[in-house]
Amino acid sequence: MKVLGVSGSPIPDSNTDRALKEALEATGLETEFIKLKDYNVEPCNACLGCVKTNQCVQKDDGVLLAEKTKEADALIIGSYTPYANIDARSKAFLERLYPLRHNHGFMGGKPGGAIVASCILEGSEMLPPAADMAVNSIKFFMMEENMNFLGEVKVLGNVPCIKCGRGDECKMSAIKMLNGPDATVESVGTNVFEKQPDAINSAKELGLRIKAALAS
Ligand SMILES: Cc1cc2nc3c(=O)[nH]c(=O)nc-3n(C[C@H](O)[C@H](O)[C@H](O)COP(=O)(O)O)c2cc1C
Repeated sequence: MKVLGVSGSPIPDSNTDRALKEALEATGLETEFIKLKDYNVEPCNACLGCVKTNQCVQKDDGVLLAEKTKEADALIIGSYTPYANIDARSKAFLERLYPLRHNHGFMGGKPGGAIVASCILEGSEMLPPAADMAVNSIKFFMMEENMNFLGEVKVLGNVPCIKCGRGDECKMSAIKMLNGPDATVESVGTNVFEKQPDAINSAKELGLRIKAALAS
């Protein structure tokens, strides 16, 4: 049994990556971690060239990654949330699994899950529900492919403004917007997955649920 973990986060060793690796490890099964930034995956062209062959006609890494996904027994997607939604690499990757759908439904019944790192864990009137938007994109993809969605992990990430160098003076900075008028880069600090017990527990739980589903 093999579990594939695919991260759309471009940041090296990001919160998304580390939470995804935690969930993969908790499965106790053979796993593979894919960082989409290391691959070239265009979005689906909606040409339907994959209908007869179950293979995309585009000549990029999307073909290899779809094949790996087809061969895997379970799939966990890790996304971060630029502009409060699933990141573009993860979205393009999911679109490129369309060839696995026709005639066979190759993803049907496979367990799956979502890992999402965002600055906004809960939406409000003022703030878009970034984590839920990305979780729902992944969850609804899995529902549409008749997969068995087993849960999500929400990790509190960091606004890029904490490291851009102008976080305290830029009028567009998210530091005060998210944390109140007195907040500064220094007072806000850096959020790391390893200091978030709820996120660690849900990552482990997701891995264990996938393991149990594959054993049954
Ligand atoms: C261009 C850009 C736009 C972003 N927009 C949002 C946003 O709208 N909502 C949010 O919660 N986080 C937003 N973020 C923050 C990321 O979700 C956050 O940096 C996340 O922690 C990155 O994940 P990582 O720690 O796994 O790299 C944005 C980040 C970037 C780079």
